[in-house]
Amino acid sequence: MRCLLTSKHLMIFLQRAQTSFDFTRGKMLFFLHLLMVVSLGPNLAASAGDSQFSYSGFAGSNLTVDGTATITSDGLLQLTNGTAYLKGHAFHPAPLLLRNSTNGTVQSFSVTFIFGIVSVYPDFSAHGMTFFIAPGKEFAGALPAKYLGLTNVQNNGNASNHLFAVELDTIQSVEFKDINNNHVGIDINGLHSMQSYNAGYYDDKSGEFQNLKLISRQAMQVWVDYSGEKKQISVTLAPLRITRPVRPLLSTIYDLSTVLTDQVYLGFSSATGRVNSRHCILGWSFGLNSPAPAIDIAKLPKLPRAGPKPRSKVLDIVLPIVSATFVLCLGSIVVLLVRRRFRYAELREDWEVGFGPHRFSYKDLYRATDGFKDKHLLGEGGFGRVYKGVLRTSMLEVAVKRVSHESRQGMKEFVAEIASIGRIRHRNLVQLLGYCRRKGELLLVYDYMPNGSLDKYLHNNNDADTSKLSWAQRLHIIKGVASGLLYLHERWEQVVVHRDVKASNVLLDRDMNGQLGDFGLARLYDHGAASQTTHVVGTMGYLSPELMRTGKASPLTDVFAFGIFLLELTCGQKPIKENVDGGGHVVLVDWVLQHWRNGSLMETVDARLHGEYSVQEAGLVLKLGLLCSHPFAGARPGMGQVMRYLDGVTPLPDELMAPTDLSFHVLEMMQNIEFNMSTISYADLLTSFGTISDLSGGR
Ligand SMILES: Nc1ncnc2c1ncn2[C@@H]1O[C@H](COP(=O)(O)OP(=O)(O)O)[C@@H](O)[C@H]1O
Ligand SMILES: *[C@@H]1O[C@H](CO)[C@@H](O)[C@H](O)[C@H]1NC(C)=O
Ligand SMILES: *[C@@H]1O[C@H](CO)[C@@H](O)[C@H](O)[C@H]1NC(C)=O
Ligand SMILES: *[C@@H]1O[C@H](CO)[C@@H](O)[C@H](O)[C@H]1NC(C)=O
Ligand SMILES: *[C@@H]1O[C@H](CO)[C@@H](O)[C@H](O)[C@H]1NC(C)=O
Ligand SMILES: *[C@@H]1O[C@H](CO)[C@@H](O)[C@H](O)[C@H]1NC(C)=O
Repeated sequence: MRCLLTSKHLMIFLQRAQTSFDFTRGKMLFFLHLLMVVSLGPNLAASAGDSQFSYSGFAGSNLTVDGTATITSDGLLQLTNGTAYLKGHAFHPAPLLLRNSTNGTVQSFSVTFIFGIVSVYPDFSAHGMTFFIAPGKEFAGALPAKYLGLTNVQNNGNASNHLFAVELDTIQSVEFKDINNNHVGIDINGLHSMQSYNAGYYDDKSGEFQNLKLISRQAMQVWVDYSGEKKQISVTLAPLRITRPVRPLLSTIYDLSTVLTDQVYLGFSSATGRVNSRHCILGWSFGLNSPAPAIDIAKLPKLPRAGPKPRSKVLDIVLPIVSATFVLCLGSIVVLLVRRRFRYAELREDWEVGFGPHRFSYKDLYRATDGFKDKHLLGEGGFGRVYKGVLRTSMLEVAVKRVSHESRQGMKEFVAEIASIGRIRHRNLVQLLGYCRRKGELLLVYDYMPNGSLDKYLHNNNDADTSKLSWAQRLHIIKGVASGLLYLHERWEQVVVHRDVKASNVLLDRDMNGQLGDFGLARLYDHGAASQTTHVVGTMGYLSPELMRTGKASPLTDVFAFGIFLLELTCGQKPIKENVDGGGHVVLVDWVLQHWRNGSLMETVDARLHGEYSVQEAGLVLKLGLLCSHPFAGARPGMGQVMRYLDGVTPLPDELMAPTDLSFHVLEMMQNIEFNMSTISYADLLTSFGTISDLSGGR
C-alpha cells in the first residue's frame, strides 16, 4: 500500500516536471519576443486619422477589454482564458465614423484579423467568437456559450441592437439554425446568421473548396470587406501565410446603413460553454475606404500551447529541482532499503521461536565483525571461515563461524541440538553462545579464545610458539580436554558425541586452558545418514576402524580420536605424516607402538621439549594414547576411566605396563595393515579390521 502511494506520487512529480519543462521553454520564447518588442518599439500604427489602424500583436496597445479578455505579456489578445461559461470582449478604444455625414450611408471598409482557437480537446471546443461592429462597448447583458457574448435571450435579433458581426462558430446551435459545428456566418443584430458556410476557402488555382478546422489550434486569417457602393459584405478565411484567396467564403448584399449607428465601435467577442477553450486574436487591422493595412506576421505572438496555465517562474525553476531531488532521494532510499534487506537478510521460521535467546540477528553479527572483514578472519576450517567480533551491546569478544549449508534438510534438528548444546557449560568446552540462520548459511557464535587453536603450537615450524608449550602445560591441556569430553559423554543430561576430537579443535583460552570446540557440528553433515552410508565425518588419522567401516559414531570413536590426540600432543607430530625420506607415510600409532615394542618409547616424546618432562607422566600418556586408540572398540576405556588413569587414581592395565604377548599380537596385526594413504581402500580396511573384530569376538 505504501509502495503504491509512492509510485503514484512519483508519476505525478514526473508529469509535473515534464509540463514545467514545457513552460520554461514557452517562457524563454516569450522573453525573446519581449526583447524584440522592446528593441523595435511598440508594434502598432493605429488610428491614422481614425481611418485605419493596425495591430501586429497587442503588446502595449490601448484595447479596451472586459470579462475574461486579457492581453498577455507577449502581446496575445486572449478573449477567453480557459474557464468554462465565461465571456470576454475587446474593442479598439476609439469610436469610428463609418457613415458619410452628408448623405448618411456607410462607407466602404475593410477589416482583417488573425485568430486561433486553442481548445483542451483536439476535436471539441466551445463556443466560438465574433468580430463585430456595435454602437457601444457595453455588453454586460450578453450571455456566454451559444450567444458568444454578443446578445441574450431577450435582445437576440432585435433591430435596436444595431449590430453587425462575423461569427466563427464551433458549436452547432439548433436554435440559431447553425449548419454545423465549424462554420463562418454573417450576423445582423443576432446570432441567427443571414448567411453561413463551412469554414474553409476556395483554392485560387484549382477553385476547389478546402475545408479548415477552426479549432485546429492553428492561426488563421479572416478578411471582412464592405463595399459602400455595392452594399456588399464579403468574408474570406484562409490559413495564416496563405495569400488572400480571390473568391470569398461568404458574400452577400446587405446595406449596413440600415444597421449601424453613426458612431461605432469595432471589437471581438467570445464565450466558452461547457468546454474551456481559449479564443485568441494575434493581429488586427482596419481601413476605411481603403484596404486594411497589412499585418506584420513576423511580429505576431505565439498561440499558447494546449496545456495547463502558466505558473510562477520560481516554481518553474524550483519544481524540477525539487522533483529531481525527490526522485533521487526516493531512489537512494529504495536502493539503501533493498541493500539493507539483502545485507541483513536471514531465515527465521516458526519452529525457531523456542530457541529465541540463542538466536542472533545477522545485523548484530555483521556489525560485530565490521561486515566480516578479512582483517577479522581468525582462520578457515573444514566447515567454513571463522571471524573475530565484538558484540556491540555487551562488548563481548566472540568468534563467529560461517558454515555454508545449502540444504534445509536436517537443519531443524540441528538447530534444536545447537539450542540444547548452547546450554552446556563446562570450563573445557568452548561456549556456544547462539546462532543465526541465513539462506544457505549458518552462523555459529562462540566464546572467543585469545590463544587460538592448539595445532598452531604443535605443527607450525615456529619455535617461539612451540617453546610456549611446556610439558606441564601439555598435561594440563590433556586433562582439560579429557574432562570436557567426559562431560559430553557422561555428565551432560544426554550423551553428546563430539565426532571431531583433534588438536586443531582444541582452543586455548587466556590462561592456556584447553577447551574443546566444534562439538556437535559434525552432526549437521551426518544428519539423516543411514547406518549403511559410507560417508564418514571426522578427520583422517583420527577415525577409528569401526567408524570407517560403519560410519556410526559413538563415545568410543571419540575415545579413539582422543588417544591419537594424546600421542599427537606428546610426540608433537601429526597422526599421519609424510615420510621425511619421501616414499610413504608414517602412521603415528604404528610408530609409537614400534618404539614401545623396541623398548624405546621415550624416544617418541617431542624433541622440542629438550628432555624437560616427567618420564613417568609422558610414559603414562603415551601408553594411554595407545590404549585409547586400540583398534578394538571394546578394549578402549571410557572417558571416566581415562580420567582416573590420568589422575593416577587407577594404574594402567598390566598388559600396557610392558609389551606382553597379547600386545605384540595386536601390534603384529596392525603392522600387517598396509596403511598407505595413496593406496588405502575401504575394502582393505574392512577385511583387515574384520579379521581383528572376529578375533576380538573370540577373546
Ligand atoms: N572460539 C574461537 N576463538 C578463537 N579462534 C577460533 C575460535 N574458533 C575457531 N577459531 C580459529 O579459527 C580456525 C578455524 O576453526 P575451525 O573451523 O574450528 O577449524 P577446523 O574446522 O579445522 O576445526 C581455528 O584454527 C582457530 O584459529
Ligand atoms: C492610449 O489611450 C490614451 C488615452 O486613452 C492615449 O493618451 C494614448 O496615446 C493611447 N496610446 C496608444 C498607443 O494608442
Ligand atoms: C478567467 O477569468 C475569470 C474572470 O476574469 C477568472 O475568474 C478566472 O479565474 C480566469 N481563469 C483563468 C484560468 O485564469
Ligand atoms: C459624402 O457624400 C457626398 C456626396 O454624396 C460627397 O461629396 C462627400 O465627399 C462624401 N464624404 C466623404 C467623407 O466621403
Ligand atoms: C452617398 O455618398 C457616397 C460617396 O461618399 C456615394 O457613393 C453614394 O452614392 C451616396 N449615396 C446617396 C444616397 O447619395
Ligand atoms: C427590441 O428592443 C427594444 C429596446 O430594448 C424593445 O423596446 C423592443 O420591445 C424589442 N423588440 C422585441 C421584438 O423584442
